[in-house]
Amino acid sequence: MSIPGPRSIALMHRREAVVPRGLSHATPIFVERAQGAEIWDVDGNRYLDFAGGIGVQNLGHRPRAVVQAISEQLDKYLHTSINVLPYEPYVELAERLCAITPGTFAKKALFINSGAEAVENAVKIARSYTKRPAIIAFTYSFHGRTLLTMTLTGKAQPYRAGFGPMAPEVYHLPYPNPYRDPLGDQANYGEVAADRLLELFRTEVPADQVAAVIVEPVAGEGGFIIPPDDFLPRLRAITERHGILLIADEIQTGFGRTGTLFASEHSGIEPDLMTVAKSLAGGLPLAAVVGRSHIMDAPHLGGLGGTYAGNPLALVAGIAVVKSFQEDPGILMRAREIGDIVHERFQEFKRRYPIIGDARGIGPMAALELVESGDAANPSGRAGALVSQYAFEHGLILMRAGMESHVIRTLMPIVMTNAELHEGLDILDHALLDASRQL
Ligand SMILES: Cc1ncc(COP(=O)(O)O)c(C=O)c1O
Repeated sequence: MSIPGPRSIALMHRREAVVPRGLSHATPIFVERAQGAEIWDVDGNRYLDFAGGIGVQNLGHRPRAVVQAISEQLDKYLHTSINVLPYEPYVELAERLCAITPGTFAKKALFINSGAEAVENAVKIARSYTKRPAIIAFTYSFHGRTLLTMTLTGKAQPYRAGFGPMAPEVYHLPYPNPYRDPLGDQANYGEVAADRLLELFRTEVPADQVAAVIVEPVAGEGGFIIPPDDFLPRLRAITERHGILLIADEIQTGFGRTGTLFASEHSGIEPDLMTVAKSLAGGLPLAAVVGRSHIMDAPHLGGLGGTYAGNPLALVAGIAVVKSFQEDPGILMRAREIGDIVHERFQEFKRRYPIIGDARGIGPMAALELVESGDAANPSGRAGALVSQYAFEHGLILMRAGMESHVIRTLMPIVMTNAELHEGLDILDHALLDASRQL
């Protein structure tokens, strides 16, 4: 059967009539059902999933514990609003999140509905605590699509273009990019990159006006860019010295994506505030800000919340996810095994295909940066488009990232079997061969 099949095509016509074009789809097929690392479309085609709903399905589609927790909750209550009538799952998930996030200090957690809302709230909390206005973010970053989070985002197309004016008091620093920055080979490159903050204090905004620096430990949408090991510790030291809060945005990197529960663990930093979402609740919309208790308590009574903030169904799903990680260390071991297999295959692809400028990864968060004939200066969005098109036409759902959408990234469930993983990687191999021939 051809992909997309007739049912998907018909649905796409209906969609075009009533849904705005600004909402993009990585693939033009409509899903019928999904389980584990597999998806079936409305025409009966099967796909392997290397996208996981943009990093939401780290535990696979419909993990048994999550489905069971939701089913049980369905028979109790669906919504009372936490601002009206509280419920135990909110407290239990807060306890669990505070226990598993980096840092042994006292913490508190706030639940909201989306990653963007988590970032918004982290900024509100940081401003309330420090009584300072400015926020420093990074180029290549993605923090969401609301006015403030799009302002923080360091990727103009498609996230900011045409939506200005942006929110005030947001400044950007270059995110370290070892592959692209001419200084990237320098031994202390991470420190050099973090020290650019000191220059920003001199030229753009004095340190005593800065509430927080927000950083992704690995840049997700920006192209799965892995900063050097010395970058985050240096950033932590500078922020601490100036009374500036460090917010780690672990929305894409959390819950095993980099082989550890949180990516901050690789560098040993303890952020003051952390934002989490995506794989937190196995497919239900839930996000959180977790941080030092005295900072989280800065906003006044009634200053935080939202009608759906911490929906009971999403919370019990989150408890099931966090419990799974707490009780089964095999999940993170499997994440690292998957990472090892992917890196080995990616290195082999790089040797064979000159369109791959860089193959990198940290655990199962891996990427192939595609360029024009091995020329690092020329990112190839066309190669990215050809590879992902071939992949989905042959049964593999892939996502791209990077400024030119030229980076193939892996966000597969970390419960994938070796057979499924190699099946997907074989399709990717053929996709790279096909794109190389066409370019
Ligand atoms: C690092 C990061 N921050 C924030 C967000 C925004 O999350 P949401 O789409 O749930 O608003 C994302 C989403 O991709 C993300 O990757």
